[in-house]
Amino acid sequence: MRVIVCEDYNELSAQAARLVASQLILNPSSVLGLATGSTPVGMYRHLVSMNRRGDIDFSDVTTFNLDEYYPISPGSPQSYRYFMNEQLFSKVNIDINNTFVPNGMTDDPEKECLDYEKNIEAHGGIDLQILGIGRNGHIGFNEPGANLNSATHLTELSESTVDANSRFFDSEDDVPRRAITMGIASILKSKKIILLASGASKSRVVSELLDEDINTSVPATLLKVHPDVVLICDKDAYSGTRLGVDIGGTNVKFAVVEGRKLIYKSSIRTEKSSADTLISSIADECNRLKKLYPIKTVGVGTPGIIRDGRVNAANLPFRSTPLASGLSKLVDMPVTVDNDANCAALGESEFGAGKKYQNIIMITLGTGIGGGIIFDGSIAHGKSSMGEIGHIIIEADGGRPCPCGQHGCWEQYASVSALIASAKEAVQSEPNSLLSKLAEEKGRLDGEAVFDAYEKGCKVAAKLLEKYTHYLAVGITSLINVFGPDAVILAGGITSRGNLLIPMLLPKIPSSDVAIEISTLENDAGSLGAALL
Ligand code: PGA
Repeated sequence: MRVIVCEDYNELSAQAARLVASQLILNPSSVLGLATGSTPVGMYRHLVSMNRRGDIDFSDVTTFNLDEYYPISPGSPQSYRYFMNEQLFSKVNIDINNTFVPNGMTDDPEKECLDYEKNIEAHGGIDLQILGIGRNGHIGFNEPGANLNSATHLTELSESTVDANSRFFDSEDDVPRRAITMGIASILKSKKIILLASGASKSRVVSELLDEDINTSVPATLLKVHPDVVLICDKDAYSGTRLGVDIGGTNVKFAVVEGRKLIYKSSIRTEKSSADTLISSIADECNRLKKLYPIKTVGVGTPGIIRDGRVNAANLPFRSTPLASGLSKLVDMPVTVDNDANCAALGESEFGAGKKYQNIIMITLGTGIGGGIIFDGSIAHGKSSMGEIGHIIIEADGGRPCPCGQHGCWEQYASVSALIASAKEAVQSEPNSLLSKLAEEKGRLDGEAVFDAYEKGCKVAAKLLEKYTHYLAVGITSLINVFGPDAVILAGGITSRGNLLIPMLLPKIPSSDVAIEISTLENDAGSLGAALL
């Protein structure tokens, strides 16, 4: 697939029109496959001007449109027949009898589909097919995951397509739920294909198209088997190169991401003397990387609470700091800021263990419990503290106090700090236990020591981990009950002992259809996710 990245929508439209014009000049009796939707409108406008100037001639051209709603009358302003008449056919010197759009009023759709397919063949097949791409990866109305019926067929529209197309109707209820569409094989029989994608709303699907192998979840990837496809997109749709920054208490990590690939990473020490020095040290590294890579946008994950673009973070010098606007001025690029746990969840969902799931909850076990909730590929946001899962209350009566002001917060029981606090108490009451001895040898009592002692058969450590995984399971079960995710992904240093943790945890979680997995990205999840903000 050749890719042409244009500056903006107007350049994309002009470029696409030039390719169509070349086709018509080389073969004035070409058969064109045409598409509707908002994307090709600019291209049609250019073609109309070229025709009016006498640069191109439509008198011998035949056209076949990709699809039509069903049922719909051709006179309805939302019908694709009406759209084509308005945008092109009535404005150029084409013979309207040589323009074909599936009949949305047929009472025998099966016959209509067969006849449509035969008619294309009778005209010698399509020389040049124009396509748009849906946000869900559809081409024509060949929807994701559907039985990708090859020939022209009647199909059901997916929820996301109904939603996307409702902007052309008075209400979502008015959008027809079915359509007649050329199939993937009908499209692939075309001699040449031009695929158009414009705007940031298409950037996700464009990178999926470019990065993924052929798969039916993104029907447009099937175009990869065709030898002559040109993708023309504008800069907003071509996600290009992005920089992700993950601000931690000790280090700031940077990840340069192209489409969905990590191409470079680096890190600097966290400058804690003031907000300004921290921001300018981050800007210096961003500017260094900008010289090496064609970076267009920066995403930043930071601890703390972000409200109206201002960050408050206890362990960093951020006090109502306008991080996004401050950094943006220094790097001269758009900067987006989100909470670091949210970024890690996004990273994990796009690059790591969450890749195969639509909806995930990521739980980071550390000093506290951090979390991020990803639904349909996006971070679930509330006004402020959505995702503060460490502070769900799991012990309502007489719960342990939490610095947040509540009692009985989950992180007081299931964070690594909580495990260590319980281990310290256990060691005091059982000074002869294996755990006490191991801790003494190590010179400190950490989570690692608890797992090491457990592995060596220490009963005290076993009891601690039984209790710990009980609390962990209580919180996870509540989250599953509320959000119904496809998977829960656990992260944090402690998960390096996932081989011991998971078998103790799983029997305590009743929902067997939710996958419980360990993060595969660990330290890179935050910067990778930030890049995609
Ligand atoms: P759009 O639609 O051009 O309106 O974005 C494209 C499509 O759904 O195929």
